[in-house]
Amino acid sequence: MMEDIPEREARAYETPNGDTIFITQRDGMYYAYQNVCPHLQVELEFLENQFLDRDQEYIECSTHGALFMVETGECISGPCLGQSLEKVEISVHSDGGIYLIND
Ligand code: FES
Repeated sequence: MMEDIPEREARAYETPNGDTIFITQRDGMYYAYQNVCPHLQVELEFLENQFLDRDQEYIECSTHGALFMVETGECISGPCLGQSLEKVEISVHSDGGIYLIND
């Protein structure tokens, strides 16, 4: 995966095993999660690559508006309060490429 992901934006990807994940950048760090809301197990975004809330502060589920911490995936508001997105381990190589670990 070599696509550039700007700060405070997110991009969806399909993994080789068919999962959909998304990656977002915050303060120079990248965070990746399975694209599955812990509330009803649906995908989070309604519009392509729109995973963040209006202020681009939290990850937001478009179905019922649950908000998740970018750094931890923990739901801090909404029907799945206290549950978390499932984190995907990634590594960022020196060439700027982002790679899945164990995949
Ligand atoms: S499905 Fe995500 S908040 Fe309900």
